[in-house]
Amino acid sequence: MMKLLIIGSKGQLGWELSRQCKRSGFLYLAVDLPQLDITDQSQVENAFVDFKPSVVINASAYTNVDKAEVEPMSAFSVNSTGPANLARLCGKYKIPLIHISTDYVFNGTKGESYLETDPVSPLGIYGKSKEEGESKLRSILKEHIILRTSWLYGVHGHNFVKTMLGLGNEKKIVKVVSDQYGSPTCAADLAEAVLTIVGSIRNSLENSWGTYHYCGQGVTTWHGFAKAIFEIASQYTSFKLTHVKAITTAEFPTNVKRPPFSALECNLIKKSFGINPKPWKESLETTIERILTAS
Ligand SMILES: NC(=O)c1ccc[n+]([C@@H]2O[C@H](COP(=O)([O-])OP(=O)(O)OC[C@H]3O[C@@H](n4cnc5c(N)ncnc54)[C@H](OP(=O)(O)O)[C@@H]3O)[C@@H](O)[C@H]2O)c1
Repeated sequence: MMKLLIIGSKGQLGWELSRQCKRSGFLYLAVDLPQLDITDQSQVENAFVDFKPSVVINASAYTNVDKAEVEPMSAFSVNSTGPANLARLCGKYKIPLIHISTDYVFNGTKGESYLETDPVSPLGIYGKSKEEGESKLRSILKEHIILRTSWLYGVHGHNFVKTMLGLGNEKKIVKVVSDQYGSPTCAADLAEAVLTIVGSIRNSLENSWGTYHYCGQGVTTWHGFAKAIFEIASQYTSFKLTHVKAITTAEFPTNVKRPPFSALECNLIKKSFGINPKPWKESLETTIERILTAS
């Protein structure tokens, strides 16, 4: 029987992973701060010794892209030192590690979807810290899967969909940038993909270790994403909002540069694990229904 250690269980993805493991009868332990801090090697080792996982899934991360610019030490500690700790201990106890990374390892100037083999060139502290985490992990542990995803949202936790639904109740006009392109990814779908990979590890697919991309299929802008959110949500509820206004990145200044085009090519994960990501709008419909009809 596989035993899964899910780290970051209070986050969007970690919560979905725990929920799906519970439903499908997986044996799992779900941990997050303050119980387990991945930057503290001894805490991680204690969890490994006590629970004896057969696979570790790292869904934990420092994910606040803007705040990372003013707290670089914290971002690097969680996103780089943390995965390195996990990789070292996974090596010591011979446990495979599934680690989640991001489209923000790319600078977004390629102009088409990124392949796993494309050169990385992160723009901000968040992307740099995640990229450093990836490369440390790769150099320490062969038995790993790094799964890069993008524009993650779900039923649980903070995300763009919930922010938009909140703003739609407060404002008549919401301004959203229309010159950054990417692929919204549903946390429930990503969790399902992670658990499919766990299944493949159980069946010991020897040569599948490495880096993969997984995101919702199709490309949109944050403005297109916001419009779709309100179109779908309007079937369930009414909003004060009357208009989603398209603006440029320059009109919405932040302290960090974001990639202008960061869609990820997902052919490799299809070929290697038979995982077929769904069209992003289809999953958005399911998630909004779950958010708005939850009692
Ligand atoms: N969100 C996105 O749009 C997005 C896009 C691309 C890739 N990703 C990647 O996808 C993965 C999952 O993201 P998510 O959105 O589910 O993240 P999330 O909702 O921010 O959850 C991350 C969880 O990790 C916890 N955590 C932070 N520092 C920790 C530490 N030192 N030790 C243990 N746990 C710690 C957080 O706790 P606190 O909340 O208390 O800090 C939180 O519960 C991450 O690797 C992220 O980089 C996310």
